[in-house]
Amino acid sequence: MCGIIAYSGGRNGAALIIDGLKKLEYRGYDSAGLAYGAYGKINILKAVGKVNNLEELVLKNKVNSACLIGHTRWATHGKPSKENSHPHTGQPGAVALVHNGIIENYLELKQKLTAKGHKFKSQTDSEVAAHLIEENLKRTLSFPAAFEAAVKQLKGAYALVAMYNREPGVLMAAKKQSPLVLGIGKGEYFLASDVPAFLQHTKRAVFLEDGDIACIIPRGYKITAADGGPAKRKIHTIAWDNTSAQKCGYKHFMLKEIFDQPQAVEDTLRTLPNDIKKSFGISARRAKEIKGIYLVACGTAYHAALAAKYFLEHFAKLPVEADTASEFKYRDVNFQKDWLFCAVSQSGETADTLAALLNAKKAGLRTLGVCNVLGSAITRASDFTVYTRCGPEISVASTKAFTSQLTVLYALSLQLGFARGALSKPQFNELYKELLRLPALLAAALKKQEQVKKTARGIFRKKSFIFLGRNACFPLALEGALKLKEVSYLHAEGFPAGEIKHGPIAVIERGTPVFALAPKGFLEGKILSSCQEVSARGAMLILLTNDAAQNGLLLPRVSEYLFPVIAAVPLQLFAYYIAAFNGCDIDRPRNLAKSVTVE
Ligand code: M6R
Repeated sequence: MCGIIAYSGGRNGAALIIDGLKKLEYRGYDSAGLAYGAYGKINILKAVGKVNNLEELVLKNKVNSACLIGHTRWATHGKPSKENSHPHTGQPGAVALVHNGIIENYLELKQKLTAKGHKFKSQTDSEVAAHLIEENLKRTLSFPAAFEAAVKQLKGAYALVAMYNREPGVLMAAKKQSPLVLGIGKGEYFLASDVPAFLQHTKRAVFLEDGDIACIIPRGYKITAADGGPAKRKIHTIAWDNTSAQKCGYKHFMLKEIFDQPQAVEDTLRTLPNDIKKSFGISARRAKEIKGIYLVACGTAYHAALAAKYFLEHFAKLPVEADTASEFKYRDVNFQKDWLFCAVSQSGETADTLAALLNAKKAGLRTLGVCNVLGSAITRASDFTVYTRCGPEISVASTKAFTSQLTVLYALSLQLGFARGALSKPQFNELYKELLRLPALLAAALKKQEQVKKTARGIFRKKSFIFLGRNACFPLALEGALKLKEVSYLHAEGFPAGEIKHGPIAVIERGTPVFALAPKGFLEGKILSSCQEVSARGAMLILLTNDAAQNGLLLPRVSEYLFPVIAAVPLQLFAYYIAAFNGCDIDRPRNLAKSVTVE
């Protein structure tokens, strides 16, 4: 939820840290800070608000250092303020540290440290870690030993990076349940919460694993595993290029990422058959062994999972249970051993989804991750991974990950349907051929941008919005509403169209905007009846259809199960423009963070 970027090398890293923090702002942006070593001293700069405020301080102070740690915060313990922003120091202030995660036993540790004379400056859980290291330094002269001993005392989730004024150029890092990646450059090293923070400088990265402790010295690095032995971690070459993490002329990442979708889906489709074969082993025998699927995710990824329930039931004739991870992990699920557990997550780091996956694993289920981030926690914990290939998704509001997840899950449903004999070879071929048209169909849907913008201009002052859909379009109604509330802060709700007469129709009044998803197909008549019902009560109907006979926003002709993928585009654009006309901070919506690595 917070973002970390640290550097140790041979050049002045000030600009590099600020740039890295800007790339990580999607993880948190209520305050930012950095610590830098200079002449045997650690200096700290902090600013409330966005990274730009910190940048001003860095320029004013002419920061020049080859060893720095930076942090952008999403508050969990203590309000956004200068005192609560990172880096934190211990006592007497020889160690500076940044943290992402939650230290669950911080109160207990704080009490013990207070009894030893430590005085705390913040309300954060993180500060205790800095004090612990300094307390340990009283007994050992070695910074790595003091750091390791402190980490052993922590319970909870953490990515930690610390520096010590007596060991210039040395960075100590630890990871448990929160992401931390080591970037390996030429004679320089980076530690970051996410790869885009250092991608401009190196594409070589090591994804630290839970329990790892990394020690960076100016000439090299060493990683120790949880068991205390040396950890051999693979160096990955990141395929993403730096421009894919930039706005490329778009006003916001959200708009850029909406427009990235044809490419993202094309890239996903290109690698899919191989991925599916490799990680899922869709042989007829294996596929027949699967008797059902649990699909678990959060937020937008959950909406993709819910849509996949409709795909899988229809194409693969499999029973499916889709649930939000935060509910699933505490339910008394009577796990069926011959069901597959599938976790869907863009970041691969969402704590709730990971916890649900680990429960399923413990119960002996085969697990599949559908993720976008290579090496992320869910990919490591899953037996198999199928990747969405969207490149980095920076906007907090997920867009291209959603359509790519739908693409993967749709393909999976077809593959399973064919392997299980629910689809004949010609049926499979025809459906797969249509799926391969998705990039072009998404591009056609994007051409509706101006029409969407014009409609959005007419409704952006409304205070409440309703979204209706049926079958595979019902999850899209939920997603349309989520997108709108996330970026515009307006009230928006999605319903299965058939349900509105059972209660929600009461909220409809003259002028209430109602978005209705009405693809040509077997339920078209039913959804149109719901539209009549809301129109009769004065609703302002915005129909998204691919039936030229209807009066609405006309999208390309596709089968009704693929319709939600292309109809996602105008709904994302509606959310974007309504938020833009309301003057909202689209890429950094209030109260949200991109990656929710705490429960
Ligand atoms: O990284 P994940 O896909 O696991 O994230 C799940 C949700 O936190 C995420 O989709 C969230 O709902 C987004 N803000 C949606 O736009």
